Amino acid sequence: MADYHRDPDWWKRAVIYQIYPRSFYDANNDGIGDLAGITAKLDYLNDGRGGGLGVDAIWISPFFTSPMADFGYDVADYTGIDPIFGTMDDFDALITAAHQRGIGVIIDMVFNHSSDQHPWFVQSRRDRTNPKADWYIWADPKPDGSVPNNWLSFFGGPAWTWDERRGQYYYHTFLKEQPDLNWYQPAMRAALADILRFWMKKGVDGFRFDVVNFLAYDRQLRDNPEVCDDDGSVHGDFNPYDRFDAIYSKGVPEQWECVEFLRTVMDEGDAIASVGEVGGIRQPERLIAHAAEHVQHGRRLHMAYTFAMLTENADLGYWLRIVEATERVIGDGWPCWSMGNHDSARLLSRFDCRGPRQGLQQAALLFLLTIRGTPILYYGEEIDMAEVALPREQVQDPFGIRFWPDYKGRDGCRSPFPWTADLPNCGFNSGADPWLPLGASPPLDQAAEDPHGTLAVVREMLRLRRSHPALMAGSYKTLMKNGQAVIFERRLGNARLWVAVNVGGEAKPLRLRAVGFDAERDATAEVVPLTALARNGRLAGDILELPGYGFALIRFPAAS
Ligand code: GLC
Ligand code: CA
Repeated sequence: MADYHRDPDWWKRAVIYQIYPRSFYDANNDGIGDLAGITAKLDYLNDGRGGGLGVDAIWISPFFTSPMADFGYDVADYTGIDPIFGTMDDFDALITAAHQRGIGVIIDMVFNHSSDQHPWFVQSRRDRTNPKADWYIWADPKPDGSVPNNWLSFFGGPAWTWDERRGQYYYHTFLKEQPDLNWYQPAMRAALADILRFWMKKGVDGFRFDVVNFLAYDRQLRDNPEVCDDDGSVHGDFNPYDRFDAIYSKGVPEQWECVEFLRTVMDEGDAIASVGEVGGIRQPERLIAHAAEHVQHGRRLHMAYTFAMLTENADLGYWLRIVEATERVIGDGWPCWSMGNHDSARLLSRFDCRGPRQGLQQAALLFLLTIRGTPILYYGEEIDMAEVALPREQVQDPFGIRFWPDYKGRDGCRSPFPWTADLPNCGFNSGADPWLPLGASPPLDQAAEDPHGTLAVVREMLRLRRSHPALMAGSYKTLMKNGQAVIFERRLGNARLWVAVNVGGEAKPLRLRAVGFDAERDATAEVVPLTALARNGRLAGDILELPGYGFALIRFPAAS
């Protein structure tokens, strides 16, 4: 492992790249991406000698034994590799190859629920007295035979499914094939701890914890209250789940003990990092405060990302509201950001970064890579991959099937990575039908030819981050906002940087005097050019000329 990762705080300086393994590279040409495929393409991500994109770690979505009801987020064996993805030898080879290049490996632990095919659940549902009877959340029906309470499944319908043999309902936050584990069962928890130990021994560098804020639940199984919109009406959305404020089915006080338990186990390992997924709250400030509680006091998770930046809102005012809310509440925790992932429409399509808004993809990524915290890039963002629209009969995501056409599911952001223009399936494999169709976005080899393309910009930005510790570790302060343009300061000791980003198409002259810049005193301040970017800002006296979708990194020489 490169020295970089020996630092127990390596994850604070890292850029994480999320890989959806079904869609990265299909080495054995069966239509589905695999672990050997990831290993084969590591040099693209970071060859360990200064080449490649330059990411520090990969988070790989689940590749464990699974019936694939939710494409791997339904695990039937937490320490087994699903044959679709390869073998344990493939995983060992992946870890070794990643470490040789200084890339950390973060794996995805789905500990809120398992698959209904997991031997634990198979045993649990047998009767009410077996040793694993209470490893899942079982409840008696109401006297009239109906479900125990009003909790809904995020993927549609009630969160309770009747089990004839036990004569009870079991609880599932997601599909009925994904029963929730009972975190109040100490033996169950101990089994999860052993799973973490197993993977730490294998050499993983960290864990991403799926829906981590859902682990604990109200022991009295109280009904969730309805959410009302400002006008007092019940909130309407395609998903009935959102009509309720799920205060009893997640985020209850016992939650902290669960998270601290995970941390205690991780602390047995060496420089392990963790990132939790925190969602299910509509109001952004509340969501952010809840996520912050997951990462505080050095004894909970290392990081958590929320869905606050995963909405369709590309307005700078909104983004700054999210960043500033995070800065206010994060305390001794560390921010972590995701602007695109396997649950959200592709950034390019979600923010409509096309036509006249074409520069927005790069501006958005530059914002993501320069605010304080650990950024997570989603595979393909660096080559402008777009959402792929599928006809109903091709939809695979159970969430999309359930809510079609009001919601079309998550397949569109999970399409195969296009490597090479001239090869069958753009080189995703050697010709077998891919599990999802490829989109029309230019493949990597074409994207790489554009000196001002997103790939070149992201690559150079990752190098700039490394050579400017203030970008990785410095404090954050918003200095000015003008329309869709912002200047913020990143400061670390003597090192002081100003970052200007314009996420709007209109050029902005920014008068720096208003934020304390003095053209004479600060005559040695300079714009560090991002040579790949076609839209660098220019400093003229105390005016920063910032083009539409432009960017500028201003360096102040250290005060002597
Ligand atoms: C998380 C995952 C999502 C999955 C769900 C259930 O939200 O990111 O992909 O469907 O949990 O495991
Ligand atoms: Ca394959």
